This record gives sequence, structure tokens and C-alpha cells, in this order.
Amino acid sequence: MAAVDGKSKVISNQWVNDNYKHIVVDVGPIASKVQPGQFFNLSCPQVGTDKPFFRRPMSTYHADKNTHRVEFLYKVTGAGTRGLATLKAGEDLSFLGPLGKGFSLKSHYRHILVVGRGVGLATLAPLAEHASSMNIQVTAILSAQDSGRLMSQHRFHDVNATVFEVTDDDGSSEVDKVKALIEEINQKNKIDSIYTCGSVRLSKLLQQLAITFDCDGEVALEQHMACGIGMCYCCVRPIKVGEKQPQVSKRVCYDGPVFQIKEVVL
Ligand code: FES
Repeated sequence: MAAVDGKSKVISNQWVNDNYKHIVVDVGPIASKVQPGQFFNLSCPQVGTDKPFFRRPMSTYHADKNTHRVEFLYKVTGAGTRGLATLKAGEDLSFLGPLGKGFSLKSHYRHILVVGRGVGLATLAPLAEHASSMNIQVTAILSAQDSGRLMSQHRFHDVNATVFEVTDDDGSSEVDKVKALIEEINQKNKIDSIYTCGSVRLSKLLQQLAITFDCDGEVALEQHMACGIGMCYCCVRPIKVGEKQPQVSKRVCYDGPVFQIKEVVL
């Protein structure tokens, strides 16, 4: 089904910590078509001197086909998200979505690894739930500056994922330590596919490990966008399809935001 250009009703819009808010909106029946890794473009309200012009892309944190509710977790950082943060229950929010290509899971997978940092964890949580519904075992490595900034742990625990929390303050999020942890996980239980979002540093590591392990892997890229529908080409990134092929430019909003991790130039 094509994306809907519509108006949603805000159900709630709450702070989850000092930087992030969680907004729940009713988008209607299109909620049933949302795939993990897809995003919506949201029209953020203009407030005071903040005059966001373009809609802002937001990864879906949760979509419920029965209640028609879609949830987003967002960091309040600029004019768009400051406007979004002012919305109250009952107010309208214009949206375009769902957009882009989401994560893929193959039916023969037995065990996947998801590695996320910051709001990237929000993007990966629906994937873990989808994998669990397919009886695929999930191991999750959740990374943040400190334990207070870790988010969405419950979403991974709720699907019986094996969860490892790594943080900067105790050094456990260092790339070498995460690498050793993943090698140990793979030795005990072969990883069929790796998924990541939220950190270039971790994406580079996982790209290298996907090659070493000879397994599948996908990364959800974060990129500034304008139109969000493939028209303006402001979101292009270099992609290498096949070892001997030249790099090509692909639109993150339209060809992604999820790409094969071995093809992305990081
Ligand atoms: Fe316009 Fe991607 S944002 S082409």
C-alpha cells in the first residue's frame, strides 16, 4: 500500500528522560501496513521563532494494527522536534507514511543479533518483536553513554531476547570490547544476520564482522532529509553493490533507510 498523506490525532506525548520524548498518534488503518525500519514524515508545529519548513523523518517505534496507533521516540534537538514536543493529547499532527524500505528477515534464520545505540534502539525494537513472532532467537546489545540513557530495554526483554547493556562510563561500549562480546556470542550460537542503527562506529564494526562471519546484515541509516519521498536527492549516500561494481548514489529515504550492511560505504 502506498504511503498515506493524512492527519493523525495525538494520544500522548511524554518525556522518557532529559532528552527524549515518546509520542503516540492514531494514524488510522495504515498502521497495519508499517514494517520495522520504516519511517513517517511528520509536520512539526511552528512555535515562536521556530519555523520548521520541511517535515521531519521519524523511525517507527511501534505500530499497532488493532488500535491504529503508531509510536515514535525522538530527541528534542532543533526547531522541528521542539515544535513536536509541544503537542498535547487531542491535537492534530499531519503525517506522510509509512515511507522507505524496512528490515528483512528470512524464514530460515534461527538467531539474529541487533546492536543499537541511542535512539537507534527505538528503530530496532520492532524488528526484535517481529523476529520473535517468527520464532527467531534474538540477542540484543544496547549501547549508551550511561545506564540512565539506555532506552527500550523492556521491549527486548519482553520478547525474551538475550540482552547485553554496554555503556561509555564503564568502558564496556568500546569497540574492541563489543567486538569480543559479539565473537563470543557467535561462537556459542551462530548468528544468521546482524542488524544495527544509531552508531557509525558500531556499524563499521558490524560490517567487518558480517564479512568475517559470512552472515547477512542490515543497517538503518540516519540521514538528514527534505522531501522524504525520493524527489529532491538531498539524502544520497554512496553504496557499493558487489565487490567489483563502482559505487552508486542511493537515496536513503527511498532506497533505504535500511541497506545491506556489506554494501554501505561508512
Ligand atoms: Fe528527498 Fe530523500 S529526502 S530524495
